[in-house]
Amino acid sequence: MIAAADIIIEKAKSSKLQSLSLENLPFGKYFSDHMLEADYEDGEWKNVEIKPYQPLLLEPSLAALHYGQAIFEGVKAYKDDNGNISIFRPYDNFKRFNKSAERMRMPTVPEEIFMEGMRLLIDLERNWVPNQKDHSLYIRPFMFSSDNVIGVKPSDTYKFMIICSPTGPYYNKPMRIYVEEKYTRAAPGGIGFAKAAGNYGASMLPTAEAKKLGYDQVLWTDAFEHRYVQEIGTMNVFFIIGDTAYTPDLGSGTILAGVTRESAITLLKEMGFKVVESNISIDNIVDAHKAGALFEVFGTGTAATISSIKELRYKDYIIEFDVANWKTAPELKRRLDAIREGKVDDRYGWMFKV
Ligand code: COI
Repeated sequence: MIAAADIIIEKAKSSKLQSLSLENLPFGKYFSDHMLEADYEDGEWKNVEIKPYQPLLLEPSLAALHYGQAIFEGVKAYKDDNGNISIFRPYDNFKRFNKSAERMRMPTVPEEIFMEGMRLLIDLERNWVPNQKDHSLYIRPFMFSSDNVIGVKPSDTYKFMIICSPTGPYYNKPMRIYVEEKYTRAAPGGIGFAKAAGNYGASMLPTAEAKKLGYDQVLWTDAFEHRYVQEIGTMNVFFIIGDTAYTPDLGSGTILAGVTRESAITLLKEMGFKVVESNISIDNIVDAHKAGALFEVFGTGTAATISSIKELRYKDYIIEFDVANWKTAPELKRRLDAIREGKVDDRYGWMFKV
């Protein structure tokens, strides 16, 4: 059993912050001074260490590189105007991480390592948390199989790590979306609900094809009929139709249970919307648009927060939105940001103080 006190800390001799300004940052390009690393061996977690960010020495036979037992999370830390640092809902990411681990036949990571390890790491990296609008310290916990064996079987050894990237907005303008009818992100019984690396690897080709057509991302549809909407790119999706917010339900196991999705549901209800989690067909979306009742479409995700969709293309039917005049997505983002930036009371207990 690992206790917080067992986490060894080796500090970097100097900080890379001396040569980096935390303003107008791209997403995920720079990494902070330290990282957390832990090993799973002989059925237990050991060697839990926070140490200077550095390369890993790995063998070419590393199981994760061949068979993709690899999962991750995305979490964000914010700085309020008094310089206090808080992490947004990390416990929800911790629980989801272990659900992903179980689906990928990987060991779960104990709370002491995930939560206390993250807290200690962010405490050490507090100078790395930007306070510019739409900036945060993106925290990336991940785990991969580390046996040097190319037989197809669950690995006996794993590495759990956390790295941090000071970061700006993921998408900085409203997006154009292509409704995907050829490729599939996830099918029932698969790994769509897990934050498994392979889900993202498999999305590269469809996204590249959509980009060639001038779109930023795809709207995934179900595996059987390509009729029921699933997610947008790497985000959950919401449709504002009349006074109701619709989002795909999690029942089929094909949708990631987004922490931002959950937060958006709570805040939309607070804003007076009825929220319906259900099976939503693209035909219903088109019908709502034809009836003049489809007001807004947006994505939610840790990296992207709330991202407006300015165009949705289904076959030859193009839906365009006047995003500049939207009311709901901007108000939702405003409420979410206010909580995360410590500007209002943390009324749902979402902020984990470091
Ligand atoms: C996130 O929103 O944290 C994601 O996982 C999306 C992407 C950066 C992979």
